[in-house]
Amino acid sequence: MSPLRTPNRFLLIGGRGWIASHLDTLLTASHKNVLSTTVRMEDRPAMEAVFDNFNPTRVICCAGFTGRPNVDQCEEKKQETAMCNVTGLLMLAHLCWERGVHLSVMATGCIYTSTYTPDRTQLLSRPFTEDDPANFNGSFYSRTKAHVEEIMRHTYPDVLILRVRMPISDDLHPRSFVTKITKYEHVVNIPNSNSILHDLLPVAIAMSEQEEVGVYNFTNPGAISHNEVLSLYQQIVDPAYSWKNFTLEEQAKVIKADRSNCELDCTKLMALVKEYQGMGVDVEVPEIHEAYRRCFGSGGWCDVKP
Ligand SMILES: NC(=O)c1ccc[n+]([C@@H]2O[C@H](COP(=O)([O-])OP(=O)(O)OC[C@H]3O[C@@H](n4cnc5c(N)ncnc54)[C@H](OP(=O)(O)O)[C@@H]3O)[C@@H](O)[C@H]2O)c1
Repeated sequence: MSPLRTPNRFLLIGGRGWIASHLDTLLTASHKNVLSTTVRMEDRPAMEAVFDNFNPTRVICCAGFTGRPNVDQCEEKKQETAMCNVTGLLMLAHLCWERGVHLSVMATGCIYTSTYTPDRTQLLSRPFTEDDPANFNGSFYSRTKAHVEEIMRHTYPDVLILRVRMPISDDLHPRSFVTKITKYEHVVNIPNSNSILHDLLPVAIAMSEQEEVGVYNFTNPGAISHNEVLSLYQQIVDPAYSWKNFTLEEQAKVIKADRSNCELDCTKLMALVKEYQGMGVDVEVPEIHEAYRRCFGSGGWCDVKP
């Protein structure tokens, strides 16, 4: 493991986005030198100017064309989706490679589809490891992410790729998984890997500082179903909340792109977290049910609901 070179200068790409803003807050709170930029990744001269002026030692890419209100938009905006998620990201990776600057990418685990029992309450397939080939083709968004990851890992092996899934923050941000599903009229019920940002973003910062490379499944360990999440939400945050389920088949009638449902194996990540803890780094990534309990019990949620 490389020794820490301090002080680092962190450049956040996609700086107005949700995950970037959480990272910015964390980095600023720990007195790190951070710049969030909204410059487009594919605008090479403008990005070079940002690099020239700020001279980053670490770049964390939180940019992505994710679609509004959701990934269905990527089916209609294929060129914009590919320009950002593939062309732009590769241009950024190339710039970092040319300048010898470590790059971390907030990627996605929505490139897999697990096998479930017919009632979708239990997983039948084993969790996917970092080396399993992508097997989900249901949405253009996921296809761009799977293809670019494949190119990146073979072309720029020094890049760190963090596969986030269904991220949750301890607030009611519209991009948070819990906020999304509590606003839906009907919710499917199927176990998935989820990423609690409060637990994982400090790990992302430590990984960037340590210049880790390669692909990591970046979720809390275990899988949790929508109904389990919503039951915990009801118990801890809002006793008046109730929800209605529908099936994946019924969901398919109201969305344009299919959605990935899967469990990721985070053995590799957890080994690193243990190593960091041994080094005195203050990080912890609890099992997903426990992580939700802590997240819902934290100040952010209690401020939101009576
Ligand atoms: N949130 C999730 O559910 C989730 C799950 C797994 C993985 N991820 C991945 O994690 C990353 C961050 O997600 P997020 O939830 O924070 O998304 P977000 O809130 O949509 O933020 C993405 C940011 O990227 C910017 N952007 C778009 N095109 C760009 C380009 N060509 N160059 C530079 N910046 C560009 C957007 O800026 P404008 O708004 O100005 O266009 C936006 O501020 C994304 O790559 C996403 O795919 C997210």
